Parts: sequence; C-alpha cells; structure tokens
Amino acid sequence: MTHPRRRPALLRREAVVATVPVAVAALLTAAGPATAAGSVGAPGVGDPYFPLAGNGGYHVSHYGLTLGYDPSSRHLTGKAVLAARATQRLTRFDLDFTGLKITGLTVDHRKASYKRDGQELVVTPARPLRKGQSFRITVTYNGKPGPVTDPDGSLDGWIPTDDGAFVAGEPQGAMTWFPANNHPLDKSSYDFTITVPKDRTAVANGLLLGQSTRNGKTTFRWRQKAPMAAYLATATVGRFKVKQYTTRDGLKVYDAVDPREATAAAPVLKKLPSVLEWESKLFGPYPYRAAGSIVDHAPNVGYALETQSRPLYDRAPDLSTLVHENAHQWFGDSVSLTSWKDIWLNEGFATYAEWLYSEQHGGDSAQKTFDALYARPASDALWEFPPGNPGSGANIFGTPVYARGAMTLQVLRNAVGDKDFFRILLAWAKKHRHGHGTTAQFERLAERESGKNLDQLFMTWLYAQGKPSHP
Ligand code: ARG
Ligand code: ZN
Repeated sequence: MTHPRRRPALLRREAVVATVPVAVAALLTAAGPATAAGSVGAPGVGDPYFPLAGNGGYHVSHYGLTLGYDPSSRHLTGKAVLAARATQRLTRFDLDFTGLKITGLTVDHRKASYKRDGQELVVTPARPLRKGQSFRITVTYNGKPGPVTDPDGSLDGWIPTDDGAFVAGEPQGAMTWFPANNHPLDKSSYDFTITVPKDRTAVANGLLLGQSTRNGKTTFRWRQKAPMAAYLATATVGRFKVKQYTTRDGLKVYDAVDPREATAAAPVLKKLPSVLEWESKLFGPYPYRAAGSIVDHAPNVGYALETQSRPLYDRAPDLSTLVHENAHQWFGDSVSLTSWKDIWLNEGFATYAEWLYSEQHGGDSAQKTFDALYARPASDALWEFPPGNPGSGANIFGTPVYARGAMTLQVLRNAVGDKDFFRILLAWAKKHRHGHGTTAQFERLAERESGKNLDQLFMTWLYAQGKPSHP
C-alpha cells in the first residue's frame, strides 16, 4: 500500500545531500554541553538530518501566538511570546525563524539585539541568562509568509491557498510563521489568537476558547494545553463550514471543511468518533480533549498532516487516511521523536493502524497486506533503504518508512503473538505519553514485554539494506 496523498508528488533529492554532511559535523560538536567558555546556545539540537532544527541551551514551555492574516494581500502580522527556561548560562541563543520581517524583540521586556543568519535568529539579551533562569521572549513581526521547500521537494510551512492558508509544519515549516525552537525534542503548550476577515475561519490546535467579530474581522482563540512539538501547530485559514459536537467520551470535536470538499468528506468525517473509540481500545486513552478534522482545498500540497488534536487534510480524506492521521495522535504527537531518523516510529505505526483497521473492519488482514508488499521484487522502491536508517531528510517520507516500517510491526506481531504484540502497543503509548520515545527504547520495551530476544528481527527489518531474505 502506498499513500500518494500523504506524500509529495515529486521527489527532489539533490538539494540537501551536498550541504548536510559538512554542517552535521560542525553542529554535533556545537550541540554538545556548553563548556566554561561556551555560554552561547547551539544553533541546532544535533539532529543529523536537520542540523539547524531546534536550538541548544533552553526549552520553551509555552508559546503565545497572536496573528492577523489577510488572505487577499497574503499579509501576516504576528506577535510571539515564548516562556522559556535556560538549561545553561546563555549570553546568546538562537531561535528558528525564516522569511518574515522582525519589528521588535525583547527578552524579559528588555530590548535585545539580534541578527539573522538563514533560518537562525541569533538573539543577544541585554543581560546574560543564568542556568535555570526562566525568561520571556517577545517577537513582533510581519510580512508575506511562504513555505519552505523540504529536502524531498515538498512544501511545508505557511502555504497560501486561494482563500487563506494551509499551515503544516512537518518537518521544518513552523519557522515560516512563528519564531520557534523548531525540533520535536522541545514540546510546549500553545495559545493562539488569530484574526481573519469575518467570512473566513482560522483553525488551530486544541480547544476553541471563543470567537468574536468586530469591524469586519473575526478573532479565534485556541488553546493546546498538552505538550506539542512545533511542527504539529497549525493556524489554517479558509472559508470553512464548521461543525462542532461532543462525543460519547466527552471529546470536543471541531470540524472545518472547505465547501468544495464537503460532499466527499462528510461520510468519512462522520466516522471520526468510532475511529477514535477503536484506536483508544488498541492504543489506550486518546491523548487530548479536543479532536476533529480540517479539510482544506489545497490540491498542490499533496499530503495530510497529523496536526495535534485535529489533523489537516489537503482534500477530502479517505477512511484509511483519517485512520492514519488520527493514529498519529498517539504515535508521533503524544509520543514524539527525539530525532527525525526515527520517523518510522510515526509513519510505520500510523500505517500499521490502517492495516489493523482494515483487518478488524471486514477488509484485508494485516498479514495479507504484508504478503502483497513482500511479494514486490528486490528492485522495488520499497526496499531502497531501511526504515530505521533512512539516510537523509530527503527520505523521511519515503515508501520504506511507511510500508516497511509497518511490515516490521507485522513481523514483530508474528514473532511475539497477538497478546504480547497488542500489549506492547499499549505499553509504548502509555509509557511515553506526552513525552518522547526512541527506536532503541521501543526495541527494549518489545523485548521486555515479550521476554524474547528481538535483536535479529529489528536488525533485519529496521536496519539491513535491501529486501530481507525471509518474511
Ligand atoms: N506525517 C504526514 C503523514 O504521513 C506526512 C507529512 C509529509 N510532509 C512533507 N513535508 N512531505 O501523515
Ligand atoms: Zn503519517
């Protein structure tokens, strides 16, 4: 099974390949603990695929984003207030922010000096920050935001549409619309206040606190209390039909649908409560209080995103896409990556959720889906690289990550049996809820829960080049 709708139509690989290796070496050193002389925050967290993603020296606990967007001029005004805490002494630190013009920047209400260097916004506070100190960064900005082009050629970030903007940030795009510590290692709560013309709707993450219309404009206030990685934030704007209801489990559902997609989307969105109930049985309690769907009309985007608490679709989704994006609420959103290299923990799991859904709803069994994939010849793109080591940022949304990642879970299931396998899924989501997980931690947990040595299995399916010689 491939999922062209979730992946960019074209894969362009040249771009990063040349630049990454040099940068990596420099940054891995830079990202290390500060030495006595070093009270400068590192420009990245040390991610080998995205060396400038995130920053060293501090954590952000909360983002307060106040935005105004005018779809006709495509102009955005923004104010970002970040509550942060220094993890080392800092005479200087970076944020990730690209494109927009900065009109003011303070740290603890004192004017700070800054310079910009590509995606790095280098901030020098008036006074150094002590290790452990809580501080507040306020940035005001404006301009015409646009997306970044990812290593695989797809667009992410603020993507203008004919009636607003499709706002998706995986893996890099958050920095196109707010200054961020832009790596899933740092998770934070968020408040959004978004003002748009009164015939438009602005949809972000979490609960809608309120909306009010004045002088031809509507302001929407959204709150995501649970920790969220920057790439999962959205502020999607469009002419939407909105539907709100509460599920039997007490989840607040907010659906925003572009009228052009409404007929096709309706029968699928209707199934959300039953899909979430089904997923909760398999993966444990749904991690958030809010749920829903944003169905935009953005045909040029080519993928959907598991924006936290409310996935974002570039068109009416089919049922398996809805199952996939909502499975990410557990795998990817609640349990976050520490490195983009581990992306199969997101995509392999969400894809496997689709297979399980089919199996338990009268469709093909997961084994049958596995068999059909395994039958592909060794030359097939499915076997191009191992999912546990995609090799570069250009590969993180490639077929092996999704399909061979899911196949790994089927092989695991066959090795440990259903009882242990489903216990492993539950335990994984529970143990790392609202936190992080690594591939190594998953392997250890699977071994603990099953009492089996699974080294060979993971070695073969996650790390070995080429098609594994036996299923
Ligand atoms: N996580 C998304 C999904 O599989 C895919 C995001 C793709 N993003 C991109 N920039 N190509 O559900
Ligand atoms: Zn996915």
